[in-house]
Amino acid sequence: MHPIEIVLRPATFADWEQLLAWRNDPVTRQSSHNVEPVREEVHRNWLKSVLENPDRKLFIALEGDEAVGTCRADLHGDVYELSWTIAPAARGRGIGKRMVQALAQQMGGRLRAEVLAGNPASGRIAEAAGLAFKEQVGDILHYANF
Ligand SMILES: CC(C)(COP(=O)(O)OP(=O)(O)OC[C@H]1O[C@@H](n2cnc3c(N)ncnc32)[C@H](O)[C@@H]1OP(=O)(O)O)[C@@H](O)C(=O)NCCC(=O)NCCS
Repeated sequence: MHPIEIVLRPATFADWEQLLAWRNDPVTRQSSHNVEPVREEVHRNWLKSVLENPDRKLFIALEGDEAVGTCRADLHGDVYELSWTIAPAARGRGIGKRMVQALAQQMGGRLRAEVLAGNPASGRIAEAAGLAFKEQVGDILHYANF
């Protein structure tokens, strides 16, 4: 089997529709802090502010020329908080692991992630990227590499 090669490219405003479709997918919403569908206008404003913020890095993951997921690193103090979503059609093929490994490698330094307790696949992904489980607060599992 060939390893899947995942390349990260910075997101642009032209990705808004793709990002909204992934964000509003029902499974994505279940795994998110905010389960409500996001409205188009709210999403477009959100994306614009992320792209303008030097402390937030938003990427599209490519497998060949196909967009298969998105991941983000948000700087809080000296720690990057990582988050991610895989395109519904691309799930279950190891892409999440490779994408977040690539993200962790690219960002370097102190990294953390929050994963909902009912999302074992994302716990595995965090561990594969070098983060370890630290504590559970409510239904949120905290992972970090420090
Ligand atoms: C969760 C999500 C990111 C997983 O991405 P993926 O590309 O399908 O995951 P992978 O194929 O890389 O699998 C990662 C690991 O989880 C395991 N896994 C996958 N689905 C699982 C499940 N339902 N239960 C338990 N383990 C599961 C895989 O076997 C793999 O483990 P391994 O270490 O044994 O290889 C993807 O389903 C998604 O985008 N969900 C909606 C949004 C979301 O949850 N975002 C993350 C918020 S923190």
